[in-house]
Amino acid sequence: MTIAGQESLNRATWSKVSAQRDLLRGAEFTDPGERAALEHVVTHVRGRPILDLGVGMGRTVPILRPLASEYRGVDFLRSMVEASLRAYPDASIAVGDARSLAEYPAAHFAMVVFSYNGVDAVSASDRRLVFRAVRRVLAPRGVFFFSTLNIDGPSFRERPWKIRVWSPRSVLGYGRQALRQLVGAPLDLVNWMKIRRGGDRGPGFAVAPLSAHHYGVLAHYTSLDRQRQELDEEGFAADPVVFDNARGARVGAGSDTRDVDWFHIVATRT
Ligand SMILES: C[S@@+](CC[C@H](N)C(=O)[O-])C[C@H]1O[C@@H](n2cnc3c(N)ncnc32)[C@H](O)[C@@H]1O
Repeated sequence: MTIAGQESLNRATWSKVSAQRDLLRGAEFTDPGERAALEHVVTHVRGRPILDLGVGMGRTVPILRPLASEYRGVDFLRSMVEASLRAYPDASIAVGDARSLAEYPAAHFAMVVFSYNGVDAVSASDRRLVFRAVRRVLAPRGVFFFSTLNIDGPSFRERPWKIRVWSPRSVLGYGRQALRQLVGAPLDLVNWMKIRRGGDRGPGFAVAPLSAHHYGVLAHYTSLDRQRQELDEEGFAADPVVFDNARGARVGAGSDTRDVDWFHIVATRT
């Protein structure tokens, strides 16, 4: 699969009603790491402009908009923009691509957000375009707050034939998750077989199937070292503040990240 193939697969998956239903949530954090990262930056960004990339069904609108002097949301899918505007009709949300952001002023936003691993939807080379575009619109000392999948973590090792239960709150919850996965396994397997060779691989990164939406997405996974290097090369401080998803604990160079599915990163523009 080519880069264009990755892009059309991910767009097609997120255009489906079922995927949009999966992403439909109220004002809740995806995980403790997202909450911890936002708490880390909140005093820096409160009362200042915020740009929210890949806004999807609008989960982050009620979390970020009350903090901002100016809130702007962006998604490259018109159907996502329409859905988030149905939920928040008076919000400023428009179709746009995180790789360009040419329609937004330079050096303007105190924070740019790309939540729930949205940045991982693009290829390794296009990812650089996102960092460059974000850097251009960030004010000096502004922050890019994003999450990104860990190549050393359990998500990268998921396969359709392995049951994986995410922090069940009860035995019943465990049973429900396991049953849902068993029922979905045939579709997972068919989709995984279709896309598994469509990825890419390089030092410290891979583009590979993600279990979300029945293996409907080809996602970029990175090591923390490579992410730090990439940020450094694209004009961000090389020592970003990083939280793991599940516990909201700080991780850094040299941390054992084998049980971290994704990182929440707060990177400061240099
Ligand atoms: C996993 S969803 C996350 C949605 C939302 N941010 C949330 O946390 O619930 C990723 C979103 O990013 C959008 N997206 C992916 N690549 C994009 C790009 N290059 N520019 C703008 N939006 C993009 C997708 O359409 C999708 O709505």
